[in-house]
Parts: sequence; structure tokens; C-alpha cells
Amino acid sequence: MNFFHTSIISVDQFSKTDIRKVFELADYYRKNLDDGKVLTDLKGKVLTALFYEPSSRTFASHIAAMQRLGGSIIPIQGVTFSSVAKGETLEDTVRAFASYSDVIALRHPQEGASRIAAEYSTVPIINAGDGTGEHPTQALLDLYTIQSKLGRIDSLSVAMVGDLKYGRTVHSLSKLLSLYKKITLYFVCPKTSPMPKPIISLLTKRGVQIKTVRSINEIISIVDVLYMTRIQKERMDEKLYNSIKNMFILNADLANKMKKNAIIMHPLPRIIEITKDVDENPRAVYFTDQMRNGMVIRMALLKLILNK
Ligand code: CP
Repeated sequence: MNFFHTSIISVDQFSKTDIRKVFELADYYRKNLDDGKVLTDLKGKVLTALFYEPSSRTFASHIAAMQRLGGSIIPIQGVTFSSVAKGETLEDTVRAFASYSDVIALRHPQEGASRIAAEYSTVPIINAGDGTGEHPTQALLDLYTIQSKLGRIDSLSVAMVGDLKYGRTVHSLSKLLSLYKKITLYFVCPKTSPMPKPIISLLTKRGVQIKTVRSINEIISIVDVLYMTRIQKERMDEKLYNSIKNMFILNADLANKMKKNAIIMHPLPRIIEITKDVDENPRAVYFTDQMRNGMVIRMALLKLILNK
């Protein structure tokens, strides 16, 4: 991929070579930050973070990434105080912010919103989560974390636990993993929240071994990565949510049954699906590597998109 001035809409855009390029630059930025260096690679560039849905990490890490590269930001978190509240369309809003900035990170409740925005924007759009669709930058930071912690991506067994129907992070991550060799994916989900069929078809076509199970116990001792997700309360009715919210909970006793070098991941926010006593487990990387990596991966992407 030629990253320069390219919108990042889906993980489908990425080859393994592209991923390697992003990871190499992320390594470089991670080392520079660890060494306390002040960077100015994107001095004079402006990012709009345009978030129609709640966010902590994706919003703040895009902003931190731009600022740590010497750039500036227009932060729009929630659209109550923008002209969206007066009825302005996504297309017109994007046109406005494209006039003031060099790149727009967009989070929106509607699947496909980033693709539509990219049609109307004169600057690149970064999909920061589009409804139940995709979350490509999250998948890149997740994959980068797996590579950094386990030293490889090939030949891994990964369990994805929780709401696989509405969870956009697992949609994007499973597709990225499918680019690698000998991947086994265990889907641990309620019957009402399965991985969407088109994604399963794609994964199968690419040679991924897939097994769906109904209990964490069945896979806890054999996986290299346990990727927990929350049940997406905001995308289902209350009755359904209450019937499935307690189905898959990781506690310290369960976590201790994992392989010594396995890792526990979560895109966050965590609600009840990981108990607090797991946080100190050395396998847990969701508050450490995963979050820090979110910023360096976004630094790498911004640099590739904005500089030739
Ligand atoms: N992982 C993630 O998308 O978190 P936020 O909703 O806090 O951005």
C-alpha cells in the first residue's frame, strides 16, 4: 500500500508487508519515547478527532500520537456542541473539518460511515470504529502487541471471547490474523452473538482453523492469546444483555490455568468480564503494553499517511 494521503477504512487494505512497515516505524517511535526524545516529525500538521460515539483510548491515543509528533489537534468528542446537533449530515461535517485539518480520525455508530466520509473528505479518514463494522487501528495495535510479547504471529492459538457479533475489534483482528500461517481461532461466544458468517467464510478460505466453544474452561490451558471482549450492551435490548452478560468471566483462578507465556488481552473498556484480581497476573497486558502500543501504532500510521 502507498500510505501517503490514503484513508484507513478496513484491515482488508493491509498486506503483511504493509503491517511490517507500520510495526517497524512503531518500534522506532516506541524506542524514541522510551529514551525521552521529543519528536517533531508532524510539526505543522493538524488532526481532527471527530468522535460521534464514546471513547477513551482511541480518542486520546490519536490525540497523544499527533501531539507527540509535534502536530496539533481539533478534538470533537461527542457531537452535542458541533453543528451535528442542528442536523448537519456526516458528509457536510467531514467537508468542514477537512478544510481545517490534514487528517480526520472518525468514530461513528453506523457501519460503513468511514467509507462514506472518505468519499466527501479532501483529507484522509482513519476509521476509529464504525458501529459493528471494523476497528482497524485497534487490530494493528493488538497484532503489534502479540508480535512484541510472543515474538511471532504464525502458529498461534487465539481465543476470542464475548460478543463476537457486535464487537468490531474481533472482526478486524481475526481478519489480520488470517494473513499468517497456522492460525487457530477459538470463538467463545453466546449463541446469540456469533462471529458474522462472511468473516468466518473469509477466515476459512484463508486456511484458519476455527472452533466455536461455549466455555472458557475448554480452551484456557491451550491458547497463546486470550482476547476478552465486553458484551456490547448499547447494541442489543436489555433482556438479551441480561441473559448473556455473565456468561464468560475470567477470574484469577481461571487465568492461572493458562500457559506460562500466554497473554491476556482486552481492547477495553472492561465491564465485568475480567475480574480485578486478574490485573496483576503477569499474563495480563491490557493496561500495559496494549494501551501504550495504541499510541505508537497511531504515531506510525499518522506519519505514513501525512509524510511522503
Ligand atoms: N478499544 C477502544 O476502542 O476503546 P475506546 O472505546 O475507549 O476508544
